[in-house]
Amino acid sequence: LNIKQFVKNIPKVELHLHIEGSLEPELMFSLAERNAISLPYSSVEQLKQAYQFNNLQEFLDLYYQGAEVLQTEQDFFDLAWAYYQTCQRDNVLHTEIFFDPQTHTERGIDIGTVIKGLMRAKQQAYQQLGVSSEYILCFLRHLSEESAIQTLKAAKPYLSDIVGVGLDSSEQGHPPEKFQRVFAMAKQLGLERVAHAGEEGPAANVKNAWQLLDVSRIDHGVRCLEDEELVAQLAEAQIPLTVCPFSNVKLKVVSNLSEHPLPDMLSKGLAVTINSDDPAYFGGYLLANLEACAETFAWTAQQIADLCLTAVQASYASETRKRELS
Ligand code: HPA
Ligand code: ZN
Repeated sequence: LNIKQFVKNIPKVELHLHIEGSLEPELMFSLAERNAISLPYSSVEQLKQAYQFNNLQEFLDLYYQGAEVLQTEQDFFDLAWAYYQTCQRDNVLHTEIFFDPQTHTERGIDIGTVIKGLMRAKQQAYQQLGVSSEYILCFLRHLSEESAIQTLKAAKPYLSDIVGVGLDSSEQGHPPEKFQRVFAMAKQLGLERVAHAGEEGPAANVKNAWQLLDVSRIDHGVRCLEDEELVAQLAEAQIPLTVCPFSNVKLKVVSNLSEHPLPDMLSKGLAVTINSDDPAYFGGYLLANLEACAETFAWTAQQIADLCLTAVQASYASETRKRELS
């Protein structure tokens, strides 16, 4: 059995993908032109060369700059539609997509413009490509609690369009505790909760996201390994961790893929899933991440199938859809 073919063909589920991080350089240039915005790069090639990061913040600076080309509902549609086409190509049949409203509302763009464009792509992707999806509204943790609360309020007319809330951006200096109240409000509204934790920040952030924000998944979470007791608790509760291998390499959370603690995490019984995070910036989509891990860690077809099934079970898809994906 050819493992590459197996990875390609197996139905896949993605649980950690920032839609703004799927903005390919070519689309960034064409949207810049359409919106008469000048980019500080003379070509797609020059832009791609800038994609070298020493840490999360260096990436975030370029990621927020890139997102400035997104202005109209059509831009958000085009962004998501391009991503859904890669899902179909790679046999990713269900995806749970993060979006960062504050990145856009801070520039004067209405949250409705963002959500309506994404929702039109979502409908079309399900109808034309057979790719189902859910949307998770992320709060930017480098902004204030008040700004997060305002964002949740602004999203109220669109609550049926989102499955949950998340927490992303700069982890250092912005621990989960800062967002306890807005996460409690989201829970009251019936929304699911996830948070980035233990990517660059300590294991305590994983514990506090779990206990204080009451999340049902942890995004990244790799640094939970620094707290053995926490690892045992996460494994016991089977809290899903949405691990992003290429991201961790590109942002120097690990020095290279062969040094990634994935095998250790799996051997400790953690509910690990594989994801792409910001594929346009980190060198590949979910399929490429899985292929590289399968090769680097010599995973068997059974191990890959188990990882894919963990992602199905950890998703917020309906029970009917989960059965279709299993
Ligand atoms: N971490 C935090 N914030 C982010 C990321 C990430 O990996 N990607 C996009 N926003
Ligand atoms: Zn992320």
